[in-house]
Amino acid sequence: MTEQLQHATPTGTDLAPFGRLITAERTGLTLADIPVDTLLTTTLSAKVLVLRGYSALDKADLEAYCRAAGELMEWEFGTIMDLVVQENPNNYLFDSGDVPFHWDGAWSEKAPRYFLFQCVQGCEPGAGGETVFCDTAQVYREAPDDLRELWGRTTVTYRTDRLAHYGGTMSHPLLATSPATGETVLRYAEPLDPASYRNPLFLTIEGLSSEDATRVMADLSERLHDPRYCYDHAWDTGDIVVAENHALLHGRNRFTGSTARHMQRIQII
Ligand SMILES: [Fe+2]
Repeated sequence: MTEQLQHATPTGTDLAPFGRLITAERTGLTLADIPVDTLLTTTLSAKVLVLRGYSALDKADLEAYCRAAGELMEWEFGTIMDLVVQENPNNYLFDSGDVPFHWDGAWSEKAPRYFLFQCVQGCEPGAGGETVFCDTAQVYREAPDDLRELWGRTTVTYRTDRLAHYGGTMSHPLLATSPATGETVLRYAEPLDPASYRNPLFLTIEGLSSEDATRVMADLSERLHDPRYCYDHAWDTGDIVVAENHALLHGRNRFTGSTARHMQRIQII
């Protein structure tokens, strides 16, 4: 950690079961007071970094700050996505239901190393909408050998209509090596049942018998949600959260109260 970050972060604490919370030691600090390389190095070791008490940056400054660390994911909307619940969306990301686990950039040529959220408006306590992060490197480390062997033979083909900023068909081995740490990680996007989700996602498993494929998918739907592997972040206005994308999967709990949450997201390749 650099002197600058240390100076700004005397109250850093570990989150459970992983992650780190850093609270600004005085008022008037912004995200830009933390060198971006230090921010990302700290995120790589903690997997999720939560900053509280640091003012958010406006869009132009946030983009310039992140661009100093690497290429940014570019979409039709630019580099920063405004995540708000919409009235009648055609994609589940903008609906008030849950967002099942996935990793960012699955449909793109390159997956981002990191993504950063600024919470413009948080959720009232008890209103749901928490972002859930699953540490798949830890899931893999603790999995039994026979399951790892099945996973090692598994390739998943995903299919979804392009109704938002992604879509089409893609195949991905279930296991991958994190280019950032060399850890074995799982790359998996949970299926989206057309009965429950707008813009459903269909999965086909290759490399396994249909019996083993059913078993692997049923096991993943339990194992990935085990609280031993998941950090749930409840959003307060002003929170800034940086997440490592190669080892983690992430999703969102459904809203149970007000949906007046507003987040901004940017992704660094
Ligand atoms: Fe995402």
